[in-house]
Amino acid sequence: MTKKFAMAALAVALVMSSAAAMAAEKDPMVPRAPAAAKADKNPVASSADSVSTGEELFQEIGCNGCHGDAGDGNGPAAAGMDPSPRNFTNAAWQGARADGELRHTIFHGSNGTAMIANEAMFDDPADVWHVINYIRSLKK
Ligand code: HEC
Repeated sequence: MTKKFAMAALAVALVMSSAAAMAAEKDPMVPRAPAAAKADKNPVASSADSVSTGEELFQEIGCNGCHGDAGDGNGPAAAGMDPSPRNFTNAAWQGARADGELRHTIFHGSNGTAMIANEAMFDDPADVWHVINYIRSLKK
């Protein structure tokens, strides 16, 4: 049921987006999560298995619809989206965020943007760490 809801949200995002050029990201270096989220440490060491599990979840849940198959923020639903989805390949942004902050934003969303709360999309909330290990693997 929750997955259907997310697909509906994605469909709305697709309809609302135009063929216009991609809008800019909004202040990617400014934190989106409360500072306390930094204390939430990733218990899953990164490995090829964890990264590929994370990539499967990323696509199954539909994160790639906005963030793109390459995680560069250029998915099919991203055209005209303002602010645009995060470009995970950005090394400066990667360095500015702790894993716990990513978990917080993935679960609770980023107010006033198309990044909605995705906690209910995870059958096992602990799987979010695999998705985070995948996002980390995209750094250029
Ligand atoms: C409907 C489009 C959409 C979908 C689907 C989506 N995102 Fe996002 N995401 C965004 C946008 C837009 C932003 C930028 C928000 C901002 O600027 O505050 C963002 C930002 C982020 C960030 C950056 C937060 C930060 O600290 O800078 C992460 C991490 C993220 N998304 C992960 C995910 C994951 C994982 C999924 C799937 C579970 C997902 N997103 C699904 C649109 C989306």
